[in-house]
Amino acid sequence: MKHIYLCGFMGCGKSTIGKALSKRLSMPYYDLDQLIEQKAGMPIPEIFAAYGEAHFRALESEVLVESGKSEPAVIATGGGIFTNPQNGKLIQSLGIVVFLNTPFSYCYQRIKGDASRPVAVSKSREELFELYQSRVSRYRAFSHLNVVCRGSIKQSVQDVLKALQAAEQTKRS
Ligand code: S3P
Repeated sequence: MKHIYLCGFMGCGKSTIGKALSKRLSMPYYDLDQLIEQKAGMPIPEIFAAYGEAHFRALESEVLVESGKSEPAVIATGGGIFTNPQNGKLIQSLGIVVFLNTPFSYCYQRIKGDASRPVAVSKSREELFELYQSRVSRYRAFSHLNVVCRGSIKQSVQDVLKALQAAEQTKRS
């Protein structure tokens, strides 16, 4: 079993679905945002404020590389992981990549005004929608599986499991 990477826009459910999925699969769970915070020794908003987004993106690429060295795990990425397109090729080589394709309106409800998300906090709904639209093509391009998430977390976990099983069967046949 390889790593399972979850990608998608802020608020699509990567952490919640990732934790539940890791329990179902009895695999460890990691969150790249948390690994970045550990490495920097400060929360994400402070990294952005003190060193800027470019520094955050460099740390993000570093922890992505490092994540590949752990035992097989479910790994949640940050919504901007493909800002550096080189992360796309890399992630595909490290595991199976699942795009949690959650409609923007759902994501927006979860992220609006969230001070822990510096990319979202100061943006209007329109600006965030533009960002969402500009990112979707990369989520699609760099993912092996695309799972539409518009129901409960339980339903989404089941849908991800189904997609993983189907992919496994296709590989075997
Ligand atoms: C970001 C998303 C965040 C985090 C950082 C930047 C982005 O992760 O990596 O605040 O650019 O979309 P979540 O998608 O978990 O909120």
